Amino acid sequence: MRVPLLFLSLVSATAGSTPAGSPTRNATALYAELCANCHGADLQGGKAGSLLDQNWRHARDDAGLAKVIREGVIVSGMPAFDVSLNEAETRALVVLIRETAKRRVDPAVRHTNELPDGVQHSELHSYRIEKIIEGLDVPWSLGFLPDGRLLFTQRTGGLFIATQKEGKWTTRKVTGVPPVWVRDEGGLMGLAVHPDYATNGWLYLVLSDPGENDTGNTKLVRGRLRDGQWVEQETLFEAPRETYTNLGINFGGRVVFTNGYLFLAFGERGKVGQAQNLSLPNGKIHRLLPNGQIPQGNPFEKTPNALPSIWSYGHRNPQGLAVHPRTGELWETEHGPRGGDELNFIRAGRNYGWPIITHGMNYNGTPVSSLTEKEGLEQPVIDWTPSIAVSPIRFYEGDAFPKWKHHLFLGALAQQELRRLEVKADKVIHNELIFKGLGRVRDMIAGPEGALYVALEIPGPGTPDFIIRLVPAASVSK
Ligand code: HEC
Repeated sequence: MRVPLLFLSLVSATAGSTPAGSPTRNATALYAELCANCHGADLQGGKAGSLLDQNWRHARDDAGLAKVIREGVIVSGMPAFDVSLNEAETRALVVLIRETAKRRVDPAVRHTNELPDGVQHSELHSYRIEKIIEGLDVPWSLGFLPDGRLLFTQRTGGLFIATQKEGKWTTRKVTGVPPVWVRDEGGLMGLAVHPDYATNGWLYLVLSDPGENDTGNTKLVRGRLRDGQWVEQETLFEAPRETYTNLGINFGGRVVFTNGYLFLAFGERGKVGQAQNLSLPNGKIHRLLPNGQIPQGNPFEKTPNALPSIWSYGHRNPQGLAVHPRTGELWETEHGPRGGDELNFIRAGRNYGWPIITHGMNYNGTPVSSLTEKEGLEQPVIDWTPSIAVSPIRFYEGDAFPKWKHHLFLGALAQQELRRLEVKADKVIHNELIFKGLGRVRDMIAGPEGALYVALEIPGPGTPDFIIRLVPAASVSK
């Protein structure tokens, strides 16, 4: 049997093409290929910080910048590029950063992600965009209470309740929400309202839980709201202390309900390989009862040393989880490394392959695996190579856009896209780009009146984020 080329050592990965010996490549092209993914096409920032704002966290002078590019900031998700760039190329990138910053100091030329005015057209419906809540800092997850109030989390901390009165929105921060470890991709993430909220009042939060010595890991809690306060909190799922890590990446972070169960998406936390280890929570979808207990009938309940909560495994960074409103079937998205973003149809007990198979590679250009498919491992329904940074998914359940009913909406971070997918059984039969370039799409959900609410994160220094909604073109709201 062939052993997959897993976890190639950096030396063997680049053997024969050592960066030092190769001819120097063009800095703009290198930036687009190796850096734009995280720092944005215009260096304005995206998943990682801006390279224009002169607000350096790790480096200040040219030598410092070169050192960061060479050695990376591994805990934060900045890869080391010494394996793929030679010294001249590293230097050229430093120059590119300096040049671009000089040209872009004028805030007026900054990309402002302005919202389009007037009626917008898509294949099935025309709509208008309304900006409803402004001045946010990475709104991550949206939900509605049965009484019509909007809830949202911010990654940098905070659960908020928003209410509308005569067309004006006011937001209020819930007090007493548990502390979170705000680092890179981690913080306060997923939010879900129990399907029987009206009778039991349970709200669910996925967060990065602070551990000792500046570490964190994904955790699921529930609690209730009383007079604007978070009370009666219960921890439903947490990882063993020894798995807490200082790596600020790949938390996963969504929670959804179906048929009396809840599903939790738990990322691999940068610990490549652990998604395959059934004794660890990383890189798994877990199925629990709404009170945190483990239900009967999970696929690994009888497997020695396996966590009985595991529903599926081999996931990298699952930031999207959605349940089909009619069938109860589970869909998932996950960020690949560089390339290899996936939309998956989740079946109990299946292995989704990370990192044994992937259509992507490491950010610095070194391979993850030589395999893109293998017997017994699931293929994605859609693979995005190059990545769009696929994140939230949710089926539209409103009435205002009747032709969108039960279509799957999907958001992308780096490519700033909102997409509409039509699914049939485990296939996608149509895929439409609704809009692009308005911001990093963090979540979307139908409101009680059927408008589609979308949380947008605007990349770049000092750019406040906001929540918009898509309303039918003909309707006059406000
Ligand atoms: C996988 C995502 C990713 C890629 C790809 C990436 N970076 Fe980074 N980079 C980061 C993160 C995350 C940080 C740390 C940000 C922080 O701590 O504020 C960072 C930090 C940096 C810093 C230091 C910024 C500071 O505030 O001191 C520089 C310079 C930098 N990156 C340059 C590059 C260049 C040049 C490339 C391409 C060769 C690149 N990065 C590719 C994620 C990435």
